[in-house]
Amino acid sequence: MAWVNGLQDVVAAGTELSEVNGEVGKLSYRGRDVGDLVGKFDYEDVAHLLWFGELPSEPQKQSLNELFFSGRQAANEVFDVIDNLPAAVDAMNAAAIGLLCMRAPSGDESDASAAAWYTAAFPVLLLRHYANQHGLLKPRPDIHAGHVATYLYLLRGGIMPTTEEVQALEAYMVLTMEHSLNASAFAGRVAASTRANTARALVAALMTMTGPLHGGAPSLVLDMFDAIGSLSRADEWLEGELSMGRRLMGFGHRVYRTVDPRAQVLHTIAAKSLAGQDSLVLAEGVERRAVKLLAAAKPGRQLHPNVEYWAACVLRSLDIPRSLLTATFAASRMAGWSAHILEQRRCDKLIRPQAVYVAAP
Ligand code: SDX
Repeated sequence: MAWVNGLQDVVAAGTELSEVNGEVGKLSYRGRDVGDLVGKFDYEDVAHLLWFGELPSEPQKQSLNELFFSGRQAANEVFDVIDNLPAAVDAMNAAAIGLLCMRAPSGDESDASAAAWYTAAFPVLLLRHYANQHGLLKPRPDIHAGHVATYLYLLRGGIMPTTEEVQALEAYMVLTMEHSLNASAFAGRVAASTRANTARALVAALMTMTGPLHGGAPSLVLDMFDAIGSLSRADEWLEGELSMGRRLMGFGHRVYRTVDPRAQVLHTIAAKSLAGQDSLVLAEGVERRAVKLLAAAKPGRQLHPNVEYWAACVLRSLDIPRSLLTATFAASRMAGWSAHILEQRRCDKLIRPQAVYVAAP
């Protein structure tokens, strides 16, 4: 019985949530190209599209906002747990602990109320712990503001962000909220397929995302820029990494065989917010050189910038701390993960593939 390492190119599920076309570099949510959603609809609108299959009407948006508000309040109820965690606990782990301690929303888990509840609660738990770690102000989270504005408000200790800042982070979060059967979404579906509850299935996805081959890359992209220092050193540093068999963070993708469409939009956003800055010149120069060196080092592998490369630049321009880059990605992907969990519940089939015994007889 043959098996495929990493399930590469193996179709493991059917989904109505999104389509990633790796050959032409296209991403769509429920049949709508993400390029038609970014900048026109907010995070809650697009989450509604994923969870319910349509963009919300005004009354539907109002009730979704109320669900998000109650999710933030429910997170408030476990602050005694968060406030007693050691500062050394990673913020993603703290938020996962908080999710597991929260009371579940009323009603059964097959509807999207749990999805909205935990999606709204995650940033509140994450940023409460971050504030404790760094002795920052801890404003009440139950404010009547959008999901993305609330994220920046809590991160900044109660200072409301500008419209431009909300627009930049909203674009990032809309672009990264869903991406078909990526490793973390698959982990969430496996957990949901056993009928584990929504909080636990989300924690399975959360922990899967932390690896550097998946959502752990953005901070490592910034570490790469720091290590390179100046464009004159880029070739030497990049060639050194490749000669040691190391991977360049922010490049390559299991599905995209061309530039990740999300990276293209985020590059445009970074070019606007970082116009005239050395960091933009360095990032653009390193991108050009890395693509060239990767083509020479790995001929035929089609290694292009992925979402993380320019996401790192956009998030840094918003002063989001390096230690929270993966967590910010997770805060966005909560909508996609919970949509996959809902979809898996509807098909209600245990995910249990086989393995072939290959040890020597
Ligand atoms: C995300 O799946 C998703 O949808 C994920 C994501 C999402 O939205 O959920 O898009 C988010 O995870 C983006 C990826 C972030 N990770 C990184 O940027 C880390 C660096 N990239 C890689 O490690 C790699 O490209 C992967 C893991 C993303 C994809 O790798 P694959 O498809 O498993 O390919 P592979 O590991 O088999 O590599 C094929 C070859 C290898 O060379 P050989 O051993 O055959 O000689 O290409 C090389 C690899 O060494 N290679 C790289 C490379 N990526 C692949 N070499 C140098 N630098 C890289 N970045």
